[in-house]
Amino acid sequence: EKGKLAPELEVHDNEPPQSEQSKWESDQMSSAVFRFGAKDRKAQQDYDLLLEDEVEFVQALRMPGSEKNKKREDSPPPQVKALQTIQEMKKSLPIYPFRNDLIQAIKDHQVLIIEGETGSGKTTQIPQYLYEAGFAENNKIIGCTQPRRVASMAVAARVAHEMAVKLGNEVGYAIRFEDCTSHRTRIKYMTDGTLHREFLSEPDLASYSVMIIDEAHERTLHTDILFGLVKDITRFRTDLKLLISSATLDATKFSEFFDDAPIFRIPGRRFPVDIYYTKAPEADYIDACVVSILQIHATQPSGDILVFLTGQDEIETCQEMLQERVRRLGSKLRELLILPIYANLPSDMQAKIFQPTPPGARKVVLATNIAETSLTIDNIVYVIDPGFAKQNNFNSRTGMESLMVVPISKASANQRAGRAGRVAPGKCFRLYTAWAYQHELEDNTVPEIQRINLGNAVLTLKALGINDLVHFDFLDPPPHETLVLALEQLYALGALNHRGELTKLGRRMAEFPLDPMMAKMLLASEQYRCSEEVATIAAMLSVNGAIFYRPKDKIIHADTARKNFHIPGGDHLTLLNVYNQWRQSDFSTHWCYENFIQHRSMKRARDVREQLVGLMQRVEMELVSGITETMNIRKAITAGYFYHVARLSKGGHYKTAKHNQTVSIHPNSSLFQELPRWILYHELVFTTKEFMRQVTEIESKWLLEVAPHYYKPKELEDSTNKKMPKVAGRSRPDGTN
Ligand code: CDP
Ligand code: MG
Repeated sequence: EKGKLAPELEVHDNEPPQSEQSKWESDQMSSAVFRFGAKDRKAQQDYDLLLEDEVEFVQALRMPGSEKNKKREDSPPPQVKALQTIQEMKKSLPIYPFRNDLIQAIKDHQVLIIEGETGSGKTTQIPQYLYEAGFAENNKIIGCTQPRRVASMAVAARVAHEMAVKLGNEVGYAIRFEDCTSHRTRIKYMTDGTLHREFLSEPDLASYSVMIIDEAHERTLHTDILFGLVKDITRFRTDLKLLISSATLDATKFSEFFDDAPIFRIPGRRFPVDIYYTKAPEADYIDACVVSILQIHATQPSGDILVFLTGQDEIETCQEMLQERVRRLGSKLRELLILPIYANLPSDMQAKIFQPTPPGARKVVLATNIAETSLTIDNIVYVIDPGFAKQNNFNSRTGMESLMVVPISKASANQRAGRAGRVAPGKCFRLYTAWAYQHELEDNTVPEIQRINLGNAVLTLKALGINDLVHFDFLDPPPHETLVLALEQLYALGALNHRGELTKLGRRMAEFPLDPMMAKMLLASEQYRCSEEVATIAAMLSVNGAIFYRPKDKIIHADTARKNFHIPGGDHLTLLNVYNQWRQSDFSTHWCYENFIQHRSMKRARDVREQLVGLMQRVEMELVSGITETMNIRKAITAGYFYHVARLSKGGHYKTAKHNQTVSIHPNSSLFQELPRWILYHELVFTTKEFMRQVTEIESKWLLEVAPHYYKPKELEDSTNKKMPKVAGRSRPDGTN
């Protein structure tokens, strides 16, 4: 029975004029409404039983497969991997026939650009080919960078498995705060950020015989900076081989940057993918995802489903909704395995997404855009793409950096669709209109270097002795204002002197794989006699928000448990309290469970803390603790985060101290109902508005103490620092969680 109006029938303000929309579609091909399995009566019955509403799609275009495979289009999907041996599976990858040519090309050229469709075997196979060809002899390492932590771990695990070695021995990985390598390691996967930092200790990368900058098309900040650094190195390390590997059509651009290095193209092997759009925009794309998954599951032939969501929160929500719907349907459906994948997911759970689907069942993978190009999951035939991704954006005018959900680019949308056509002809369901694709999506994603805060990158480059950043060899230079702002910020933090040179403090800050603000906070804690406490806070902040567990069916209990941890002064102190209580429980799992705390995140915080303490000892910081006043802790935090300060203004709103931008305390904050006059925040998250996450009450006069270069007394007038009366009955605004 179809109850309420389907969400796609609601009229939207931004809905394009009907005529334009249909014109575009008819330009492409005759549009056909896609009704799942209408031909199949049995399926249709199941389908009617299960849906209260449905998502209606319109077919608009078909992404072509490569010519070679056209005739195979209607052949049954190839056997799943479980039926093949590892050797067979390796030989079946598109890169395999080019193995010898590739090795020869690498021998012939110092720098080589490699381009090939995602899933062709670049990341997992090339390091193995090099290893077999002797590139790891004389104790040299074959390095391979990845933009993402999860990919580094997953790929290393996969390659260790293929080579039948223990992960961490011949094949290992290194990511921030975690080094899973040993002296035996010959193939090393690492994040691009980790390699960037390795330059500090080994500026000529002497341990490596080959460096592969992989997933170059992702154009993360660190990858972009690595381009400049490795290009420089190849000039004096003529024995170092450099491979730039990319999925998309940027190869020519990379080639030009690397002095016209040759391009090695691995021909793609892709089946055609039919693309479907919704007839109208979706009001609630998570709900639309759930409905579409069930529609596919009930009516479509076998093949797994991949869904692109923006983050852990959305994935968990979607997973819960889906589980609930599946439960209600009981035995009417075939088995549906629901598997999430996102950065903070523990690695044993991550491994599950690669396990072959049991016969008769169907797998649905709920992924962040990590699955767009970094990770290839076999047997995906259906892709659901709501069209969004989470992105860090920096406004160089206001100096504000904020995490927000933004529409993806056309290039991303096409990458996502392509994931459906690896093993058989596939289908991609876009939860947006064809008009929106055509008119609202940018062609390409803007490289990170042009849209995020460069503080960290500039500090590392300065520490590498690169002083003239304006003339650094960037593939695409960052905006001038952003660079200037980063320099100003580092100056205000005391990391640079007025000539732009690294200070002693700056050198110590660069030792930490942290944002400069956080590094400064840590270093300042010594003078405020609270370095143990601040190390804990830094570790807890690095775990990034996933400390408190908030299951949908126990929200009240969870929120009460959270409130019990609140400490006057704010969220940083609350995080410290959680950690200290956990430590008192002897790091107990049960304690976490009882208090709605994520045990995994706590374990990670503990690991991170250990590493931070190690680094603090390395820069010869004194480890002190035990002050009874929280003021010192809050002053140390302010010494790092004085950029992130806001003051209360009329109507319970906050304005940032320097630029008068309106910001609000996140409803999850312990200060949500307190409204102190002056606060600092750890980060901004944009959902319905700019929310400050992790907030602490401060006194304005501290700002003059910790940042005399940055704040003038006049700006901080009105420093009475009294609390405003509480506003009665403030509740969570909608859409903030
Ligand atoms: O790097 P590229 O996108 O060209 O391909 P790849 O990541 O090397 O993937 C090659 C094959 O390895 C695919 O069939 C993947 O499904 C498989 N793979 C896997 O089974 N488990 C992983 N952790 C990574 C890759
Ligand atoms: Mg790859």
